[in-house]
Amino acid sequence: MSQELFEERIKRIEPKILEGLKNKEEFSFRINHHRGQTKEVVEQLQKEGFEPKKVAWAEDVFTLPMSERKRIVTSSPYTQNQIYIQNLSSIFSAYSLDIEPRDWVLDLAAAPGGKSLIFSERAHKVSAVEPDRQRFFRMKRNFKEHGAKNIQTYNKDGRFIYKTCPGWFDKVFLDAPCSSEAHIDGEVTWWNMRRVRKFSKLQKELILSAYQSLKPGGEMIYATCTFAPEENEAVIDFLLQHYPEAQIKEIDAPFENKMAGITQWEDKHFDPRVSKGLRILPKGAYSGFFMTKIAKS
Ligand SMILES: C[S@@+](CC[C@H](N)C(=O)[O-])C[C@H]1O[C@@H](n2cnc3c(N)ncnc32)[C@H](O)[C@@H]1O
Repeated sequence: MSQELFEERIKRIEPKILEGLKNKEEFSFRINHHRGQTKEVVEQLQKEGFEPKKVAWAEDVFTLPMSERKRIVTSSPYTQNQIYIQNLSSIFSAYSLDIEPRDWVLDLAAAPGGKSLIFSERAHKVSAVEPDRQRFFRMKRNFKEHGAKNIQTYNKDGRFIYKTCPGWFDKVFLDAPCSSEAHIDGEVTWWNMRRVRKFSKLQKELILSAYQSLKPGGEMIYATCTFAPEENEAVIDFLLQHYPEAQIKEIDAPFENKMAGITQWEDKHFDPRVSKGLRILPKGAYSGFFMTKIAKS
C-alpha cells in the first residue's frame, strides 16, 4: 500500500526520480581544508591507486565509482580526516550559501555536521544546533576530528532559537529533518503519509525560526532530502504567507539533473515564487534534494 502510494506520488512529480533512486554508481567527497590542501590530498589518493574525478562546479569536490567506497575508508587521506564523504547535492547546497569571511552562520539542524564543516572553512564562526543528544555528541566529535575550531554547538530545539537570537545571523542554513524519501532505494518500509504530515508541521515551525533568526540583509537556505511537496514548496509557501516581503533568489545549478519548484500539488496552489526553488533529481553521486534560497531585506 505504502509502496504504491509512494511510487504514484513520485511519478506525479517526475517519473525519472524512480530510476535515479535505484542507480547509485558513484559517491563523492570533498577536501577538508582544516586538515589538508586539495593538490596534496589528490596526489596522495592517486598514489594509493584512486582516480578521483573533479566536479565542474568546484575545485575541491570529487567523485569515485561506488566500487571504491569500501577501499576509500582505508586510504590515508580518509584516516587523517583530510576528506569528507558527502553526497553532491548536500555539498552543492552548502556551497550555494554565499558566505563572506566575516559572517556568523547558523546551522539550525546540524548533525552529523557535514554542512557546518563546510561553513566553518568559509565563515568567521558557526553556531550548530542539534536537539538529539546522541547525534549532538557525535557531531561534536566529528568537528573535533576534522579540526574545525570556530563552531559553537548547542543541544537545543531549533524551533525556539529565534527567541534567544532574533535577527542575529548573517546566514542561516536549515537542512530540515524530513521524511528522507531520497534514501528509499527499493522497498518502502518506513515511509507513510503520517510521517510526511508530521515533518511538514515541524518544518513550518523551523522555517519561521530560521527566518526570524536571520539579520536584515541576510540570506538563508531551506533544504530537505525528500520529494514530498508538503515538505518542500508548501513550507516555502507557508513562509511567504507569513513574510510576503521575503525574497526568493534564483539558484544557478550547472548540472542537468534538476527541475524547478512545483507551484501546484493536488488541490493546493502555491505562491508562484516557489518555482525559483531547485529540485535536484537523483543521479550518480547526486541524491534527491530540494533547496530554496531566501533573502531578508
Ligand atoms: C537532515 S539532518 C541534518 C544533516 C546535517 N545538516 C549535515 O549536513 O550533516 C536533520 C537533523 O535535524 C535534527 N532535528 C530534528 N528535530 C529538530 C528540531 N526541532 N530542531 C533542530 N534540529 C532538529 C535531526 O536530529 C537531524 O540531525
